[in-house]
Amino acid sequence: MSEFQKVARVEDIPDPGRELLELEDRIVVLLHVGGEIFCIDDVCTHDGGPLSDGPLENYAIACPRHGAKFDIRTGQVLSMPATENTVAHDVKVENGDIFVRINDGSQPMKVVSGGATVSRSGSAHDSFRPDAVASQSGSSETPAIPPPAPVSSGELSEDLIREELKKVIDPELFVNIVDLGLIYNVNLVPVEEGKSNVKIDMTMTSPMCPAGPQMIANSKQVLTQLPKVGEVEVKIVLDPPWTPDRMTEDARDQLGIF
Ligand code: FES
Repeated sequence: MSEFQKVARVEDIPDPGRELLELEDRIVVLLHVGGEIFCIDDVCTHDGGPLSDGPLENYAIACPRHGAKFDIRTGQVLSMPATENTVAHDVKVENGDIFVRINDGSQPMKVVSGGATVSRSGSAHDSFRPDAVASQSGSSETPAIPPPAPVSSGELSEDLIREELKKVIDPELFVNIVDLGLIYNVNLVPVEEGKSNVKIDMTMTSPMCPAGPQMIANSKQVLTQLPKVGEVEVKIVLDPPWTPDRMTEDARDQLGIF
């Protein structure tokens, strides 16, 4: 583990306030809240958003990109779409000088404030798993997307398409892609013999989402089984970016978000 390094004076950072630092090749953010100093990586574990630009409420900082929240005292993730903690670093204050020791994640974090050491519970690498999600998964492994359910019958319409797409599950969050708010647009383009081609605008919870190709393939598989569907085109759209407020109440219930 590295040594404590003097990085700033307490009076240089307003309370509440923050300061961005580069230490040992990492970008970290110092946070001054309620007379205490904290330090976490300036990295949202969802997709690398800069936490230092996000709003701070008590001890929770929100990622400005998609709204995941982290506890600045421990780095623990508090809300979706992030599912892993960010890294919190050791801090001590002596005679108004702030010292930070970079935590490489191998040791439980301690906060040293005003000369007193206070152990915090939880490792910097514990992961957040909503109870509802954990009970559905039964494992920390990302499972394969389950096979689509039987085909629905009925007149082709946007509502029917969206209903069918509920059979496609995001394998990281275990919620269907419609209730997650990933389907932006559905267009039906009539073609010959009473059939329609289907064009979908789909987004991802993160541009680097590894499950994207699977979700696209499963969407096409589900829709091409409908008798009146011709070709299916799924276009990935990242603007506007997905945010948690696009989720339905059902999705929030499943994820344990209130
Ligand atoms: S990058 Fe932070 S919530 Fe998506």
